[in-house]
Amino acid sequence: ASHMGQDLEKVLYTEQQIQDRLAELGEQIWKDYEGKDLLLVGVLKGAILVMADLMRTFPGSVPMDWMAISSYGSGTKSSGVVRILMDLREDITNKHVLIVEDIIDSGLTLNWIRSNLLSRGPASLEICTLLRKPDAAKVEIDCKYVGFDIPNEFVVGYGLDFDEKYRNLRDVGTLAPHVYS
Ligand code: PRP
Ligand code: MN
Ligand code: MG
Repeated sequence: ASHMGQDLEKVLYTEQQIQDRLAELGEQIWKDYEGKDLLLVGVLKGAILVMADLMRTFPGSVPMDWMAISSYGSGTKSSGVVRILMDLREDITNKHVLIVEDIIDSGLTLNWIRSNLLSRGPASLEICTLLRKPDAAKVEIDCKYVGFDIPNEFVVGYGLDFDEKYRNLRDVGTLAPHVYS
């Protein structure tokens, strides 16, 4: 294993900037869901760090659940054709569900998850994502809580991978070209 930092072209958001933004989002979310039965739903694997840090901004207990899906398609691009690898354990009927994601790229993954979860009759369904790429959108996703809008570049770190690598990088950044070749 080589040093991950050397594979970055540039850092977009530092660990500290990410924590600060999640604290802001967490405060907003905590207020918005006051008195409501909130369930956080994370999407494996990319969302693990956003989930871990977002939930720890809350002053009270909030339950979480996870879904693992597989998106058919080539390499780094998602196709929108999705299969559930691991479903939620919780019944979300009448619950206020907040999907927690690391990034909305084309939007195809969340578009599918959103309609899948909506069919189960939640009391409400909203999305929180750390990153969003407006210029890459293939479908419009109504996302209530967005950490940062970023340019249409391939980013890694803080849960986001390239070929399963760099998820444990603390910052979010773009990969240097030499890594691709
Ligand atoms: C990545 C990312 C989002 C999705 C966004 O997940 O974590 O879930 O792609 O892409 P989209 O908006 O174009 O659909 P990936 O499928 O790589 O799985 P992972 O979370 O396990 O890395
Ligand atoms: Mn993902
Ligand atoms: Mg991935």
